[in-house]
Amino acid sequence: EKAGYPHFMLKEIEEQPRALAETLNPRVKDGEINFDEIGIDDAMLAGIKKITVIACGTAYHASYVGKYIIERFARVPVEVEIASEFRYKNPIINQDNFVIVVSQSGETADTIAALREAKSKGASVLAIANVVGSTIAREADKVLYTRAGLEIAVASTKAYTTQLMALYMFALKLAYAKGGITQDEYHAYVAELQKVPENAEKVIQNKELLQKFAYEHFTEHSVFYIGRGLDYAMAMEGSLKLKEISYIHSEAYAGGELKHGTIALVEEGTLVVAVLTQGDLIEKALSNVKEVTSRGAVVMVVTQEKYKDLVKDVADKIVTIPDAIDFEATITSIIPMQIFAYYMSVQKGCDVDKPRNLAKSVTVE
Ligand code: M6R
Repeated sequence: EKAGYPHFMLKEIEEQPRALAETLNPRVKDGEINFDEIGIDDAMLAGIKKITVIACGTAYHASYVGKYIIERFARVPVEVEIASEFRYKNPIINQDNFVIVVSQSGETADTIAALREAKSKGASVLAIANVVGSTIAREADKVLYTRAGLEIAVASTKAYTTQLMALYMFALKLAYAKGGITQDEYHAYVAELQKVPENAEKVIQNKELLQKFAYEHFTEHSVFYIGRGLDYAMAMEGSLKLKEISYIHSEAYAGGELKHGTIALVEEGTLVVAVLTQGDLIEKALSNVKEVTSRGAVVMVVTQEKYKDLVKDVADKIVTIPDAIDFEATITSIIPMQIFAYYMSVQKGCDVDKPRNLAKSVTVE
């Protein structure tokens, strides 16, 4: 079943190029995203006034990326909610809300409850789900399936990147329907999305470097992940990957927030993973990196090829991803962090695919 791989997680990491292509390509028609299959058209999208995205764990992190790109390109306000919080707060929601629930398994108890709560208040619900015919897929009004295939490792990898892909597809289609982007921009962004699978492949080819870094760092007690904007969302997911499979304490922080408390924990030798892929924020993000290096932190930077020279003076280690339009480089930027977490777990001798205390699908509250 593992097809020669030592763990499902590595197999699933390496399946990402195919999964991403399968999620995207069949839905591209004449250079645009086509959602006929799920019953969503531009007229319906044009009527959306506000969006609430609800999920747990990794799917919540994907939702966060969705918020950034929907707000930026479609200019529709988006709230992102943790399902277990949403369901108990008597949420202000009605038929004016367009709700998106994101779930790999489609069976997460809190997400199912949130979906039911939203529907009972009159909201229309789109599910972004991976498992065909799952409870969430059945109960939502519409379903946009990620086509990641079966994901067995508890730590989500290909389900996450395909959730991102689905959210990008939705965001671009919505942005065009709302007049937030021109047709030329729409076509250019979709064409660029189609390069994501080959870019993902290039990152995977480079895995030996991350294996080496993991070998140098697997004895760490604590690792911080920082980033701003989209990079912050990726930092959250990178940090979750590390903690769930290697049991190393880790926190993710928005770069600008560090100095409001967390920087007190940075000392000589602390490992900080800095995600610096967004050109418009790179200067600000670099000053956050300098704040930690001046306290003795060792910094591993994840960046695009084109920004390598900008970051080389502050980085102890650099991992590059292929150049892309910045906001789309986000999708591939998680892959080095998945691979790093994987090898950290392997080096520590942890049960990579079945980490302690965790279940693949959380069907209890
Ligand atoms: O099946 P779901 O996407 O609803 O699951 C949500 C979370 O339980 C899941 O993403 C969890 O955080 C993973 N272990 C992360 O790797």
